[in-house]
Amino acid sequence: MRLLITGVSGLLGINTAWEALQAGHEVIGWVNRRMLPRAPFPTRSIDLTDATATAAAWDEAKPEAVIHCAALANLDECERNPQYAYALNAEAAGRLAALAKRDGVAFVHISTDAVFDGKRGGYTENDTPNPLSIYARSKLMGEERVLAANPQAFVARVNLFGWSLSGRRSLAEWFLNNLRAGKQMRGFTDVFFCPLLANHLARLLFDALERGLHGLYHLVAADCMSKYEFGVLLARRFGLDASLIKPSSVENSGLSAARAHNLTLRADKFAAAVNHTIPTIEDGVEEFHRQALSRYPENLREWLNP
Ligand SMILES: NC(=O)c1ccc[n+]([C@@H]2O[C@H](COP(=O)([O-])OP(=O)(O)OC[C@H]3O[C@@H](n4cnc5c(N)ncnc54)[C@H](OP(=O)(O)O)[C@@H]3O)[C@@H](O)[C@H]2O)c1
Repeated sequence: MRLLITGVSGLLGINTAWEALQAGHEVIGWVNRRMLPRAPFPTRSIDLTDATATAAAWDEAKPEAVIHCAALANLDECERNPQYAYALNAEAAGRLAALAKRDGVAFVHISTDAVFDGKRGGYTENDTPNPLSIYARSKLMGEERVLAANPQAFVARVNLFGWSLSGRRSLAEWFLNNLRAGKQMRGFTDVFFCPLLANHLARLLFDALERGLHGLYHLVAADCMSKYEFGVLLARRFGLDASLIKPSSVENSGLSAARAHNLTLRADKFAAAVNHTIPTIEDGVEEFHRQALSRYPENLREWLNP
């Protein structure tokens, strides 16, 4: 399939592009500013908050399917620039979904576990969101805009980790960078999540496309843990000193955007729809480690070279 990936220079986008190529799909990548001159697919720079430029680029791309990964996904940036957060995370997403509807193109929209307030955890698609931050509110509005413009869209609430082009984007990389530098760091014992490896997530998104799923789905790992436990799991798998990770509470973290405590979601609806099991966090960490051994992150970063 001819697959357009927006935000292809981001954490999810780059790993999705890799997986799409492995699966034999034709990839068209859109970035904002970070071009990928050596990527084995064409990339185009576009500001998705510009409706005219988006429509023109869309007409040229002629995709058969879209995975919309572009977003302002930095919580503190969203607090500083709410207008831009809403313009990109909500309005631009709705516009793209409408273009896809107009042309009969399959559309996957990526949302977040952070639409919930994290007071309870174990959320299903039937639970009522209560976003705590500008980021989360703009993402919830994005879901609404996408499904209003295009009821055939597949909207996935996700959490993920993996190798990024900057080497700093994902929580797993943050833990590893500190561990490898022998630096102490805090690991939250009171924040729970269910992150999927970006590559696992990408493969599940292809499943969704192949089966023509539409509507809202939770797409997270089959199990959940605290961010502290996640750091320790990584440290052990990579043979690093887990005692550098100090158990701590998010309440004393000084982070400016409000953080929810229990963002565990249930992916049963998706598992039933695709009729197979979803990888666990440990499965993801195993593959993340194998990727490091096979120089996967270095190979991805080659795509940035002029
Ligand atoms: N990472 C997580 O832990 C996490 C958790 C839950 C949900 N999500 C969701 O997953 C999706 C992917 O997140 P990510 O972590 O991969 O994000 P990311 O690494 O921050 O990447 C964001 C991407 O969006 C592009 N972009 C930014 N502003 C743009 C604009 N105005 N026009 C066009 N493109 C623009 C960026 O391009 P440049 O590189 O050129 O700037 C980049 O490719 C997002 O929807 C996010 O909300 C992520």
